[in-house]
Order: sequence, then C-alpha cells, then structure tokens
Amino acid sequence: MQRDGACTSLWQQDVPDYQPKNEFRNELFDVIIVGAGITGITLALLLQKQGKKCAVIEAHKLCYGTTGGTTAHINTIFDNPYSQVIKDFGESGAQQLAKAAGNAVALLEQNVKQYNIDCEFRKLPAYVFSQNDEQSKQLDQIIDGTLKAGIEVSYSNDIPIPVPYEKVMVVRGQAQFNPVKYVFALAKEYESLGGIIIQNCRVENFKDDEIKVLQTTQDELSGKSLVFATHIPIGINLLHFRCAPYRSYALAVKLGNNDYPDGLIYDLYDPYHYYRAQEVNGELFMIAGGEDHKTGHNENTQECFRKLEADVRRHFDVKEVSYKWSSQYYEPADGMAYIGNLPGHSENVYVATGFSGNGMPYSHISALVISDLILRGNSEYKSLFNPNRIKPVAGFTNFIKENADVVGQLISGVFSKEKLHELAQLAPGESKVFSVDGSSAAIHKDENGKLHAVDPACTHAKCTVSWNYAEQSWDCPCHGARYSADGEVITGPASKGLKPINIEEKL
Ligand code: FES
Repeated sequence: MQRDGACTSLWQQDVPDYQPKNEFRNELFDVIIVGAGITGITLALLLQKQGKKCAVIEAHKLCYGTTGGTTAHINTIFDNPYSQVIKDFGESGAQQLAKAAGNAVALLEQNVKQYNIDCEFRKLPAYVFSQNDEQSKQLDQIIDGTLKAGIEVSYSNDIPIPVPYEKVMVVRGQAQFNPVKYVFALAKEYESLGGIIIQNCRVENFKDDEIKVLQTTQDELSGKSLVFATHIPIGINLLHFRCAPYRSYALAVKLGNNDYPDGLIYDLYDPYHYYRAQEVNGELFMIAGGEDHKTGHNENTQECFRKLEADVRRHFDVKEVSYKWSSQYYEPADGMAYIGNLPGHSENVYVATGFSGNGMPYSHISALVISDLILRGNSEYKSLFNPNRIKPVAGFTNFIKENADVVGQLISGVFSKEKLHELAQLAPGESKVFSVDGSSAAIHKDENGKLHAVDPACTHAKCTVSWNYAEQSWDCPCHGARYSADGEVITGPASKGLKPINIEEKL
C-alpha cells in the first residue's frame, strides 16, 4: 500500500492498494468528500447510510495520508488535557469534548461489531505517568480536570512497562486497532450502499456557488455540499494561520522477552513518548512514538528516529526494529480541533482539521458533527468546534510568530551563487537550497548521483521548502505541503507541484 513517505509503516506491509469497485458516473452528488482517510470514509458511510449520494475523492489512494501512518490510539483523553480545556473553554466545554470523544469511541466500536471487521480491535486502559515532581503536579491537575470533564480516572500503583515512574493516572475504556484494515472495511460497506470512491484525483480548485463545482485532475464534479477531510484545506484560508503542521516519529519493535505492554502508555515530556502493543497478522509488535517537531523545522529527521530508538532500547529488551516511519498532524492554535463550516465559504462547505495527535477520536467526532450538520442542519457541538471561532488564548501570538519566523530562517539559509560549485559536491542522498542567477533552486542528489532540481517556493503561499531526509520529501514549514524530489505534490494544501528546474544547464 502506498503512503506519503519513503519509510514503511506497520500497516502497509503486504497490503495491496484499495481497489474501488463502483464505476464513477458524472452526476450531481449530495455530498462530495475530499480525502479518503479515516475521517472521510467514516463520514461517507454515515451519510450514504442515511440516503445521501456521496463521492469521496482522493489525490492518491485510500489511507495514503496520515491514516496510513497513525499509531492508532483510540482515546477519550487528548494531547491538550482537560485541565487546559477548562481554562480555555470552561468546564462545560471540557464536558462537551469528553462527551463527543465518548460518542466517537462508541461509534468506532459499533462499526467494528456491526460490520464484523477483523482489525485486531481491543479495549484496554490508558496510563499517563510522571517521572519528576513537576510532572507529578501536572498529573494531579490533569486528573482533576479529567474528572471535572466527566471521565472516570484514578491513580494507579503500576504501569505495564519497565519505565521508572512517580505517579500514574489510569483511564479505562480506551482502545487500539489496525486503522488500515478498519478503513478498508468501512470503504467496502460504503461502496456496497452505492458510494463512489475516486482515487488519484486531486482537487485543483472549486466554485462555491449553490452547487459546488470542483476542478480536479480527472473529471469536473458537482455536489450540493462539500467536505474537506484532508487535514488542512486547499486555497489560502484563515485555518492556515491557526494550524501548525508537525511531524511525529514511530517505531514498531519485536521484544526479546515477549513482554508486550497491555495498555496505552504515555509519559509527560514535551513532546511525549508513547508505547503500546499491536498484533498484525498474528505477530506481536510494540509501537513506540514521539520526538515530534514542527514540519520543516528539523534538518536532521533521521536523528529523530535515532533518539526514539535510544529511548526504547534504554527501557526494553529490543530484539529487532521492524518498522520506522513518520507522519504529519496539525496542531490547532487554541488546542481544540476545527470541525464545521470552512471559514470564508458558504455554510455547506465543511472542514475537519487541527486534530493534534488525536486523529482517531477526532476523525469520528468529525464524522458525527459534520453528518449532523448536513442531515439536520445542526450539531450540539457546532459552537465548540466552530472553525470560525475567535479564541485569543495564551500563547496564540507566539504560535503565529513562530510560524512566521521559520520562513525567515529558511530563506537566510539559502546558499549564495558563489557556493554553486558545492552542487557538484553534494553526497548521494543529500539536498540543499541554492541561489542560482537570482533565483533559487532546491536540489536533491539521489542515491544514483542524479540531480533533481525544483523551484523551492511552495506553490501554496511561496514559503521555502526544506528537505526531509527520513521521508525523502521537500516539506513546507508554513502549512505542511510536501513534495517529492521531483516536485510532485505528496500532501496539500498545495495543489500544484514545485516547478522543475534544469540545473544541469546552469552548472
Ligand atoms: Fe502554505 Fe507552503 S504549505 S506556503
């Protein structure tokens, strides 16, 4: 199965790409959903079941994006703890979020049961642990906030991993599964109800009239409602200033002592580390993750894997590192996902983004909220997740400034013309951004010594891209667009590739 990077995730191995079975007929759809990850497919099935005629269009293949690279923690607790949600959205906001998360986990479990999906779904507890006084105080506050939100938590005397700890919070009723098997099964159910899936079809533009008309790399499509389930939407939008793209790193390892953890376990560092076990086709692995950073802000992405592996080897009897991969998520400015009307557009254009590291619960929250908005014209969570909300929370100014700063940093790192001769000395696998005759070039030398040169100006809003060694892609630090060495779009919000440059001529 294809995914948006050079590394292979635990879910990809020996899995063929999804093959849609329904023929596309050009007709007026009730709802067009852009993005065939867990959010888009879950929503499509809910709507199709209610008699809506849906089309899901996907720039690549099913689960190509973050769904193929998630570590698939199904939680009712979030990266942004309820103690913080209470400060920013009040106790009632935290209670609403907790209720939405409970409904999301219930929907996911119900789908697994109703469609008899073989995706190694398991309910199990989550543990969050502290390792020093400061973290213990933080954990006390998290427990207090989580209880106020209405989620049952308690202190535990133990954690199911051999890592030192001071205090532990345990939350029951969490779950884990294989996300790709789950989404493929839902896609089949959706198609059996007449739903359409179009793969390798990128949206290039759309007209927001009463009927939405989408220009794509295949046909023109028309629909009464339009949903962007693509993380960040295409075009330039308010949400591009309210969401920051992050990369997260994961390993799947085999343990020599077979002592795989029975639970979802998180420490309290920033970024935090997390651990869980997963069976895939009868074989057990431990998944460990962490070392997150802003997309395009880390020159040495391989180092993130090295640090993560060192952390895991410090505590566990690692026999083999079987898989390593990274994936992308979007951090919202005020800690709450944006689900609902796409800012600046008519009310039947929707978006779901800003999931932080909580894509599993937020995907199903989004499916429930947006299906309610489409089917009933309202949702009890409309105001909580409203993407148009103006929420000046602490840290918002820094959030925007940090995003802007990176552009300057990267441009100041562009090489001058005088250094052009260094081009020829790039080692295979190496990449740099050069200034050539007054214009810049992003150059990658592949393992065979061939040079690939593209214009480094991201086609979304002209920020300068930076090379991601681990996933072999040009990543944009501003809103997270990613491109191949030859400039093809891997992930949006860009809808056009980086312009190729014939660098050989300039040498
Ligand atoms: Fe917006 Fe690159 S993704 S400028």
